[in-house]
Amino acid sequence: MNDIKFIWLNGDIVPYEKSGVSILSHSLHYGSAVFEGIRCYKTEDGPAIFRLKDHIGRLFNSSSVVGMDIPYSREDIISAVIEVVKHNELKECYIRPIIFYGDKMGLLPTDASLHFAIIAWEWDKYFKKESVSVRVSSFKRIHPDSAVLSAKVSGHYSNSIMASLEARASGYDEALFLDHEGCIAEGPGENIFFIKDDVFHTPREGKIFPGITRDSIIFIINNMGFKVEETDIKPEDIEGYDEAFFVGTATEVNSISKIDGHIFGEGGEGPKTEKVRDAYKATVSGRLPAYKHWLDFVK
Ligand SMILES: Cc1ncc(COP(=O)(O)O)c(C=O)c1O
Repeated sequence: MNDIKFIWLNGDIVPYEKSGVSILSHSLHYGSAVFEGIRCYKTEDGPAIFRLKDHIGRLFNSSSVVGMDIPYSREDIISAVIEVVKHNELKECYIRPIIFYGDKMGLLPTDASLHFAIIAWEWDKYFKKESVSVRVSSFKRIHPDSAVLSAKVSGHYSNSIMASLEARASGYDEALFLDHEGCIAEGPGENIFFIKDDVFHTPREGKIFPGITRDSIIFIINNMGFKVEETDIKPEDIEGYDEAFFVGTATEVNSISKIDGHIFGEGGEGPKTEKVRDAYKATVSGRLPAYKHWLDFVK
C-alpha cells in the first residue's frame, strides 16, 4: 500500500513508513485488535464520511470487549479520522481505525501497551462484478455464545477468511454463513437481504454482525415504501425469493446472482436491488437531504 502518505498513530500524524508494528504484538499473535471500516464519499460540498459517529461508537464498544482502556475520547478520534482524510488530500476513500496491543506474550493482555492507528486509502468497489455468485459455507458463523458478535475483533475474522477461501476454491465469488441453528446468517464481511414481491427479508440481529450499512438500508427501504422483515431465513427458503443482495461498508450494495445452484431471476442485478443501490449511492453522496445527518463533512 505504498500510495498511503500519512497515518494517525497514537495521537500524531506521521508518515506511513513510521507505522512499524512489533513482531511480539499481542494482537498479531492472538487476534486481539479491534477495528472499523468506514467510507468517505465525494459530495457537492466536499468529501463526507458516512456514519462516522456510529462507527467510532462501535469501535469503542469493541475495544471494551478485549479489555482496552482507550486514552482518547470519541470526539478526539472523530477529529483524528477527519484529519487523516484531509492530510492525505483524499476525496473518496476507505478508512481503517485499528487499536492493537503491543508486546505481550501470553493470552492476558493486561499490562500490554495500546496502539491506535487510523489509515485511509482509495479503495474502489469491493466486488468487481455487478452480481456475485455465492456458496453456502461448510463453516458455520461463530456461535453467539463463543464471542461477542457485535464487536469487530480481528480474531473473529479467521472464521470469515476460511469461508472466503473455501468459496473461491470452489469457483464462487463469495461465501454465505449459516448460523449454529442452520439459518442464513451473513457473508464473511457483509450482511444479506432477500426480496419477495414488495417485502425485504434480512436475518435478525443476535446471530450476525449488526452492520451499520444494514441499519441504513433498513431505513432507506422503509422510506421507499417497502416492508422489511427481520426474521429467521432457512436455506430452503432461498428458492422462493426474487432477488438477493449483500450490504456492508466495503461492499456497499451488491447484487447476488446465485446461491449454490439457485439463480435469482436472469442471474443479473434485479430491479429492486438496483433501486436500493441507487438510493444508497444518493444517500452517501449527500444527494438526499433526509440522510444528510449521517454525513460528517471534511472541511
Ligand atoms: C461479518 C460482517 N458482517 C457484516 C458487515 C457489514 O458491517 P458494516 O455495514 O457496518 O460495514 C461486516 C463489515 O464489517 C462484517 O465484517
